[in-house]
Formats: sequence, C-alpha cells, structure tokens
Amino acid sequence: MIVKNETTPTIKELVERAGLRHIAFIMDGNGRWATSRLLPREAGHKAGAEVFRKIVRYCKDIGIKCCTVYAFSTENWNRPKTEVEAIMKLLEKYAAEADGEKEISFHFIGDKAPLADAMREKLENLERNTAGRPYILNIALNYGGRAEIVNAVNTLIEAGKTEITESDISAVLYTNHCPDPDLVVRTGKELRISNFLLWQSAYAEYYFSEKMWPELTEGDIDEAVRSFAGRKRRWGGLDEA
Ligand code: FPP
Repeated sequence: MIVKNETTPTIKELVERAGLRHIAFIMDGNGRWATSRLLPREAGHKAGAEVFRKIVRYCKDIGIKCCTVYAFSTENWNRPKTEVEAIMKLLEKYAAEADGEKEISFHFIGDKAPLADAMREKLENLERNTAGRPYILNIALNYGGRAEIVNAVNTLIEAGKTEITESDISAVLYTNHCPDPDLVVRTGKELRISNFLLWQSAYAEYYFSEKMWPELTEGDIDEAVRSFAGRKRRWGGLDEA
C-alpha cells in the first residue's frame, strides 16, 4: 500500500518530473479475456475498446501529451473475417463519436489505402477537423513497423534523395508530428514488440503487464508511470557522475 504524505509526488507530478510525454500501448489479450469467459473474441475487442477510451482519457488527465495505440496490424487481416469486421466496426463507431473529445488531435497511422472508401474518408475528416489540438492520439491501423520504414525510404527516394540521415527518416514516418515514445506498455503477458514502432522505440522504456487489455485500470497506468520514473535513461551513454 502506498501512503500519501507531503513528500509523495502525485502521478501528475511524476509524469512531469520524469519527462514522460508519450506512452504507446500494445493492447494485447482481448481474445483471451473473452474466451476465458466463454465469450466470442469479438466481445473481448468490444470490452477492449471501452478500456481504450478510459485509458486515453486518463493519460490526458495525468499530463501525458501523446498516446499511441496498436489497434490493427498489417498481419491482423489474417484473422477470421468476422473478427476483422468487428474491430473495424468498433473503430468506425469510435471515430463517429470522437468529435466529443474536444482536446484530442486524432492521427490514424498506418496504410489507409486498403480501407473502405467511406471509412478512409471518415478517418481523414477526423484528422483534419481535430488538427492542432493539444493532446495527440495516434491510432495505429493497418500498421506495421517494417512497412512504415520501407514506406519512409521510398518517399525519400521519390523526393530524389541519394543519401539519407536518421532525421530524414524520422521526418517521413507516420509519427512525424510527435516525439518518440518514452514508454511502451504491453498487456497480455507476451514479451515481444510485434512490429510496433520499431524505429521510434529505439530508446523507449518497456513495461509489461500480466493483465489482459480489458482488465487494465488507471491504477495500472500509475504503476507503469512509477516504474518509468524510477528508471535511469542513458540513451546509450553512461550515468552522470
Ligand atoms: C490484440 O488482442 C488486440 C487487437 C488485435 C485489437 C485491438 C483492438 C481494440 C482494443 C479495439 C479497437 C477499437 C478502438 C476504438 C481503438 P488479441 O485479440 O490478439 O488477444 P489474444 O492475444 O488474447 O488473442
């Protein structure tokens, strides 16, 4: 139990002191959460979408400037059609209601080309209508880290570049509007990156939760923030003497 006294910083203060600007989430475990309750996998995604709403709001409230969530990977098309359709419907529903989130600037990162025309237009409208708002929410949709890097290199080749730097690549990634993630949180007991933000996470800290995504609470975010705040980031260098 944590007893609050005058020297115990609040989570908001910890976020600020630790310079925690960007948290990225691998929202894993929806399917297992559902099947362990004898529910269809789609019910897990529905519960996951509710938790996503809660966590995104909470991160904003504690002073995080940017959140990225892995909603649908380039590999997720290989799932049964009913499951893919259920996830797309949840995303469409969220996008339709998202106008109510007055402080959020929405970015759908990934290749939107294969999406249905109507859905792509809705997402692009949302991006346009919410541009410049203070809190950035990146929703990774049809996203793959390797594909993103290949796309970035091809963009630079098309622009006539013959020699490229790291900043050239960063400038043409889907996330060129926000800082790299400081912290990547993965639920669902798996200890892997799954092709998520490969370039951007080069110096991120990782936090793995044993919980399935639909079980995640605000208290778990507090734990992840405390863990982050207690770490020393060295960026490949040495501790200061
Ligand atoms: C991984 O769990 C989760 C996904 C592939 C989809 C995540 C989608 C949502 C949380 C809903 C998206 C909606 C919005 C509004 C962002 P899994 O299905 O791979 O779980 P498992 O490993 O237990 O099978």
